[in-house]
Amino acid sequence: MRISRRAQAIEPFYVMEVAKAASELAQKVAHTDRPMVFLNIGEPDFTAPPLVQQAATQAIRDGATQYTQATGMLALRERISAWYASRFGVQVAASRIVVTAGASAALQLACLALIDAGNEILMPDPSYPCNRHFVSAADGKAVLLPASAADRFQLSAAQVAAAWTDKTRGVLLASPSNPTGTSIAPDELRSIHSVVQQHGGITLVDEIYLGLSHDARFGQTALALDDQIISINSFSKYFHMTGWRLGWLVVPEALVPVVERIAQNLFICPSTVAQHAALACFEDASIAEFERRRAEFKARRDYFIPALNALGFLVPEMPDGAFYAWADCSQICSKLGIKDSWDLAYEIMHRAHVAVTPGRDFGSTDTHKYLRFSTASSMDNLHTAIARLRDMLG
Ligand SMILES: Cc1ncc(COP(=O)(O)O)c(C=O)c1O
Repeated sequence: MRISRRAQAIEPFYVMEVAKAASELAQKVAHTDRPMVFLNIGEPDFTAPPLVQQAATQAIRDGATQYTQATGMLALRERISAWYASRFGVQVAASRIVVTAGASAALQLACLALIDAGNEILMPDPSYPCNRHFVSAADGKAVLLPASAADRFQLSAAQVAAAWTDKTRGVLLASPSNPTGTSIAPDELRSIHSVVQQHGGITLVDEIYLGLSHDARFGQTALALDDQIISINSFSKYFHMTGWRLGWLVVPEALVPVVERIAQNLFICPSTVAQHAALACFEDASIAEFERRRAEFKARRDYFIPALNALGFLVPEMPDGAFYAWADCSQICSKLGIKDSWDLAYEIMHRAHVAVTPGRDFGSTDTHKYLRFSTASSMDNLHTAIARLRDMLG
């Protein structure tokens, strides 16, 4: 069977191989005194809070399960709009908010609405692998530009200006980023957006980790800068609803009918039960719980990053959000005589029973030197992981 060029352009997700090997080993060591500690997981270790669970059950009992508008329930769009006002002090009209099946569908809709065949989108290297595949699925091409620790692993306006060609359609950034947990400085984003606008391009900012920001200098939405910026967000991370598949997209008013038309055809609507449940995210008790968890993520970061650095896993830039540590392990590889972070991930898995993610999928520039640790795991697990890594390194 002939496979489409589009499908062939989607690279395998190599980290799944490591995750699979870790799960197999985990079963073997589950009943020993050293069960596997999973620091490779890219989702919160918390679940949806009680009010959200109750709202979902109630919606099912009430039979509130029919399709909704393709853009999502108006009540939910209004709650999200009110959240932008209360949390960020930014007015975002509910009419500009399109509720989607996770940030993944939001990214897909944005790419399908704005990218033509052969268009190029600039992104930092390293970045979240699926983002470049959303671009290629829309017959565009992701162009990865090396992003340095000095630039918080984000693009600079000078880089964007220098890389822009006739084929360039825009930029796609994630702030805070996966895998680095670092955000773009607001002034730099403003400058990038101005370069993009001079070329008549588009600025897309994936803000899925914005709710989990730990530093007021970076915790503002890109929507505060300009309503022409397209922001992608989700209930997956700050709201702890990964498997519920709910997110949203904020677009300029003129783009709403375009996105709506594509959403109607591709998805009909996002999950109705998840939408009813998500309404309860904005109750005071739920927000208080999310904030408590955000503080927990910060406390984990404050313990874990210095502990990693002390072992020689060097985190060049303190993450200001999300729950990741992007650590340069080249010194440790040389010390242990190991080729790169891919082999080191297996070594750590087998010797320390700690699952981590090698950098390979996130780009190509220096990613073989890096491991991504996730701190979406209990403080006890983080202490255990550090103790085992210390033992392993001797
Ligand atoms: C940067 C980034 N964007 C988008 C996504 C997709 O998230 P969702 O569960 O909302 O589809 C993820 C998931 O890990 C992510 O890390």
